[in-house]
Amino acid sequence: MLLQVEDLRAAYGSVQALHGVSFHVEEGEIVALIGANGAGKSTTLMTIHRLPPPEAPVVKSGRILYRGEDLLKYEPHQLVDRFAMAMVPEGRRIFGNLTVQENLELATYTRKKSDEIREDLERLYTLFPRLEERKHQRGSTLSGGEQQMLAVGRALMTGATFILLDEPSMGLAPLLMQELFRVLKQLNENGTTILVVEQNARLALKYAHRAYVMETGRVVMEGTAAEVLNDAQVIKAYLGG
Ligand SMILES: Nc1ncnc2c1ncn2[C@@H]1O[C@H](COP(=O)(O)OP(=O)(O)OP(=O)(O)O)[C@@H](O)[C@H]1O
Ligand SMILES: [Mg+2]
Repeated sequence: MLLQVEDLRAAYGSVQALHGVSFHVEEGEIVALIGANGAGKSTTLMTIHRLPPPEAPVVKSGRILYRGEDLLKYEPHQLVDRFAMAMVPEGRRIFGNLTVQENLELATYTRKKSDEIREDLERLYTLFPRLEERKHQRGSTLSGGEQQMLAVGRALMTGATFILLDEPSMGLAPLLMQELFRVLKQLNENGTTILVVEQNARLALKYAHRAYVMETGRVVMEGTAAEVLNDAQVIKAYLGG
């Protein structure tokens, strides 16, 4: 088991957002978290990765085990280094005044092996040729879709073996959404484990191995992607059928 989340409760001030969330991710999987707005999907990712947003959720109880180690015992900045995990947060957060290449270089700052960095950069530019074409362009002048690719690229360039993504398809045209998920699938086939939050349930379920459905701070359903895709209630609530 790579990641095991057990009975997690988390709150923003007095507002409880997670009411006992449990799920797991196996090494080599793509796992999707789906569910309505406000269900607690982003909160769940933030409690795992703890990228420092201005108002981070506070974990009240429960456990987050990663390779058997209690993640909550570590400082957020240690997670990238020690556990090789990276987050692609909602809203991308790339550096607008830096070029594509500078954004990518910045992501490698904790890595030491320059040959591995070079290989990853080549791999990235093969996956996203458009980023290579635009490597000297400033982040702020990229289109929304290109910024999203850059955000994924940055996660890859940290050398992460586990990537968490929050709504990667947001704001992308349908073709680009598929392209992005195909890249995620390719990364996964090369050994990267993926936990992805996605509003577009149909898209996520097409590429994921397993999925969890969240509702108001709880997991209400889990199964293989096919099981979730064929569940009558899921179809009614999230797949518009
Ligand atoms: N900074 C915050 N302060 C107070 N409450 C918050 C904060 N961020 C989120 N919440 C609340 O926590 C709950 C879960 O929010 P969360 O962002 O995790 O949902 P989500 O499933 O990611 O929704 P969406 O699909 O809309 O992104 C919501 O009720 C939300 O209003
Ligand atoms: Mg969210």
